[in-house]
Amino acid sequence: MLEKIEKLEAEIKEAISKITDLKSAEELRIKYFSKKGEFTRLFDEFRNLPKEEKPKIGQLLNKVKNELNEIFKNKQAQLKAEKAESENYIDLTLPGKKRELGSYHLLTQTLREIKGIFGKLGFSIHEGPELESDYYNFEALNFPPDHPARDMQDTFFINDKFLLRTHTSPVQARLMQSRDLPIRAIIPGKVYRNEAISAKSYCLFHQVEGLYIDTDVTFAELVGTLVSFAREFFGEDVKYRFRPSFFPFTEPSAEVDIWWEPSGKEGRWLEILGCGMVDPNVLEFNGIDSEKYTGYAFGLGIERMTMLKYGIDDIRVFFDNDKRFLEQF
Ligand code: PHE
Repeated sequence: MLEKIEKLEAEIKEAISKITDLKSAEELRIKYFSKKGEFTRLFDEFRNLPKEEKPKIGQLLNKVKNELNEIFKNKQAQLKAEKAESENYIDLTLPGKKRELGSYHLLTQTLREIKGIFGKLGFSIHEGPELESDYYNFEALNFPPDHPARDMQDTFFINDKFLLRTHTSPVQARLMQSRDLPIRAIIPGKVYRNEAISAKSYCLFHQVEGLYIDTDVTFAELVGTLVSFAREFFGEDVKYRFRPSFFPFTEPSAEVDIWWEPSGKEGRWLEILGCGMVDPNVLEFNGIDSEKYTGYAFGLGIERMTMLKYGIDDIRVFFDNDKRFLEQF
């Protein structure tokens, strides 16, 4: 028995000195120290020894086992430390990886700016559905049944009742029907038109609708609000003009043009919005007493305004998502 113990001791010592990684350390642990390992076998043999030999051999067996265990544990800890060190090694001479940061799309930036300006003027923000009914998009806004805008040429119809909204004005009707007065709101959102795609027009674009309804709202206030908005957005010296126009849901109606002078090219007027006093028919249709209340409304074209402000001459760049364009802003 003694011999066996000594032999095993030598064998294990040798084996421990030879292990080089954690995997072989684990194999060694199983082979010698686990429940089914060599030591357990020796203890089994020990149980069958004559009584008088037991104390001496038992002590020895325990001592050897504990010592070897200690040596093994130290070796294992050393291997673990080496492994951690090699994994944490950083080669400072390697070239870095550039992490690309996203940024807000230019249209989002414009939208935020517009919201900020109207927020300061006391307008709250509302939204409405892009999939809209004919009722809100046209009927509630005083469009006659045969109005050309209803034509398949302009409108993406889903069926005879539903369509992709062609402007943000239907949310005017929704607000009038559901809100307490006064209303002072802007409504940003996407609109859709079935037009040929070109540098000037796209099948999808963004508008910000404005609606103000109260007991004494005047056309002068509309002009004042839009002019102070234009000054803040384009700068104090912005050149603008109000031009008479027509919309079924406003009376009188106007459009606002901004003077644009691209460098090296001849200047011209560019339309950025439609506006007017809410037609009394529209107020009444949507449940508001037109004797008591008046209101104004406007609809800004976000792509147009952005093109003017940043000197962009093709609307399609907003939707291509070419990084070379996006990264400039
Ligand atoms: N909805 C109109 C358009 O898309 C713009 C507009 C809005 C005009 C509000 C007057 C009042 O062309």
